[in-house]
Formats: sequence, structure tokens, C-alpha cells
Amino acid sequence: MHKIGVGHASVTELEKRYVLDALENERLSQGKYVAKFEKEFASLHGQHYGVMCNSGTTALHLALETLKEADGWDSGTEVLVPAITFIATSNACLHAGLKVKFVDVDKDTYNMDPKEIEKHITKNTKCIIPVHTFGMPCDMEKIMEIAGRHGLRVIEDCAEAHFAKVDGKTVGSFGDISAFSTYVAHTITTGVGGIVCTDNREYMEILRSLVAHGRACTCERCVASDGASVCPKRMQTELDRRFTFVRLGYSYRVGEIEGALGLAQLERKDEIMEKRHQNAEYLIKKLEKYRHVLRLPYHPDNVEHTYMMFPVVLEKDSKVDRKEFIGYLEQHNIETRPMLPLLNQPVYKELFGDIEKDYPVAEYIDQYGFYIGCHHGMGKTELDYIVNRIGDFIGNLP
Ligand SMILES: Cc1ncc(COP(=O)(O)O)c(C=O)c1O
Repeated sequence: MHKIGVGHASVTELEKRYVLDALENERLSQGKYVAKFEKEFASLHGQHYGVMCNSGTTALHLALETLKEADGWDSGTEVLVPAITFIATSNACLHAGLKVKFVDVDKDTYNMDPKEIEKHITKNTKCIIPVHTFGMPCDMEKIMEIAGRHGLRVIEDCAEAHFAKVDGKTVGSFGDISAFSTYVAHTITTGVGGIVCTDNREYMEILRSLVAHGRACTCERCVASDGASVCPKRMQTELDRRFTFVRLGYSYRVGEIEGALGLAQLERKDEIMEKRHQNAEYLIKKLEKYRHVLRLPYHPDNVEHTYMMFPVVLEKDSKVDRKEFIGYLEQHNIETRPMLPLLNQPVYKELFGDIEKDYPVAEYIDQYGFYIGCHHGMGKTELDYIVNRIGDFIGNLP
């Protein structure tokens, strides 16, 4: 069997056509493709504004810096982050000079456990970042209720859950700002990249400014200015507003090639999502008989899971050694990844000390969890192969 990777990017004639068109237009920085992708992606997540940037991490960083400016957060501000997530979520807070407080996760959904949130709220807490891990939306009703009661902002980290829904409402439309990654293994990809979405005009203006060096004018014509159409406001001030910088910004932009790729992927989103969904459901059905050994992805009925990957947690009582199991899968060309362990990372042990033991569910997942792929590049042959290899391993257990 060929290598079955955890992620997959499929490039069809459509992506090639759009990228070629972007190249032929001879406008490589932001232009019509970026603008269209931003509008459509945001709108598909129930938001008015989208600002493309060069990664999911910079999307989070921009969101945090925006709220920091709008609400006047100081360096003592604390942000709540789940104890299981990709390290970028909490890194973005640290890069923004904020304090991170971790919240344990739920044992079935692997997302921030709403029951655990309030014990970490102090007078310095200003924001919660729920992360919709592996394509599974968080319990947003409870999280928004807690945030509302304590006057906290909410940034949704939707890097792994494009288009996932709760009660028919898309992730990214619950909080104040939402951040997405479009890195290769993600549902919609632009190679590398990200996008930050919001409904709030003031936030959008700060986001647009921050993404481009802290520029004063953030209107569409200035952002995508090709010299042909000049913003009427641009020259009304002493300095050209496009080259007046009013805050300490970043160079986090992407260009038309990413915009073109993203737009083509968006047009194929139903096909991509449908396949991932079918694959994950097939794996769940076929692996059901090994539930005494494997904890499989779960979602309540009101949720649309988008299965960015297929997380598996070993049952402790089964006495299966994770290292041996993973080694066996890898040996048989089934790629695995650790299940987003965070608190046991060397850099975090140095920064936060030995705190993993205070988060028993995350600690369990760190020790017993891993994930494999269920992406749209896989078909029945690959899925059956995975099921059979897992069956062989479990069948041979003493
Ligand atoms: C939950 C989560 N947040 C943030 C990121 C960061 O995205 P990027 O790699 O595009 O910076 C990722 C990346 O995979 C992620 O999984």
C-alpha cells in the first residue's frame, strides 16, 4: 500500500485555471482574487468581513491585537485556551504579550469543557478562545453564555473546522472574531495561509490596518490598489493615506496566487467535505467493533462535524501500548500524528512548569491519543486497508 497521509491537497484544473489567470493578470499582490475569497469565505461563515493573512497563527495574532487595541487590554490580561490544541493557539497569545490560562477539555469531544471554564476566570480574564478541534465544533451555546455573564470576548479558533455547524449555525459566527488556517492539510487550502473574519466594522478596520504595516487607509480601493483606481480619500491629507502608518502593524499579507487557489477550493468545498464526511463515517462504522480498545470521534446530533482528521484515543483498560500501535500503523504506511499534546511540550514545560497533571483529561489524551487521516484523497481501498490493519493488530493482542 502507498503511504496514507494524515492530510491531502487536491489540485484540479479549476485551481490551475484560476492561478494561471492570476499570473496572467500580472498582479501578484492583493487584487480581485483575494477580495473575492475574503468575501465568500467570510459570508460562508456568517460574517461580513474577511481579511486574508499568511497563516492561521497570524490570523489569531491579528484577532488578539485587534481586541487588545479596541478594548485597551494591558499586559496582565488573561486569555483562556483549551489544554488540547495546536500550539499556535496559545503561542499567538504569548506573542501578543498576554497571559495564557489553560482549560481542560471534554473527554468525548476533546474540546474546551464549558464546565471547567469558570474556575479559571479571574478579574484579569478578558477573552476565551474555544478551538473547534479536528472539525468538531465546541459547545458554543454554553461558552457564549459564560462569556456573556462575565463580559468576556470570544475568538473562535476555526483552523480545523471550516464550515462545521452547531444547530445549523456555522463556526466562526458565534464569537467576536474568528481565525482560520488554510495550510495544506486543512479542508480549504491555499498552500499556506489564513483568514480572520468578523461582523464588526471597527475590528475589520483594525485588522486590515494591522495586516499591512499599520496603514491608515483600509478601504477596498487602497488595499487592492493597482494604480488604475485611486481612493478619493487617499490624497486628502498631507501624507498619502495609503502610506501613512497609524499603529504598529505587521506584514502578514498574502497575494493573488493564494487568493486564486482559495477561491477554486471554495467552489469545490461541497465535494471535499462530502468525501471527508463519508470517509470518517465509514471508518467509525467499521471500527465500531473495536470500541473496547478505541475511542472513536463523537458528535452530538445538533452538530455537523467536518473531520479534518480522525482522532483515536486508546482505552486504558485495553492495555494497548500506544507506541507499539502507532509503530505498527506507520510500519504499514498509515501515517499518524500525536493528538495535539500541548502541556507536555518542552517549551511549555519551561514556560509554565509541570502543569499537565492539573488537566487530567488532556493528560490522558496526551498519553493515549493520536490521529490518522480521513481526507478526500482516500477511497474505499485505503479505508478498508486501515480497518484491516487495525483489526490485525487488535486481533493479535494477547
Ligand atoms: C487549532 C489550530 N490553530 C491554529 C493553527 C495554526 O495555523 P497555521 O499553521 O496556518 O499557522 C493550526 C494549524 O494547524 C491549528 O490546528
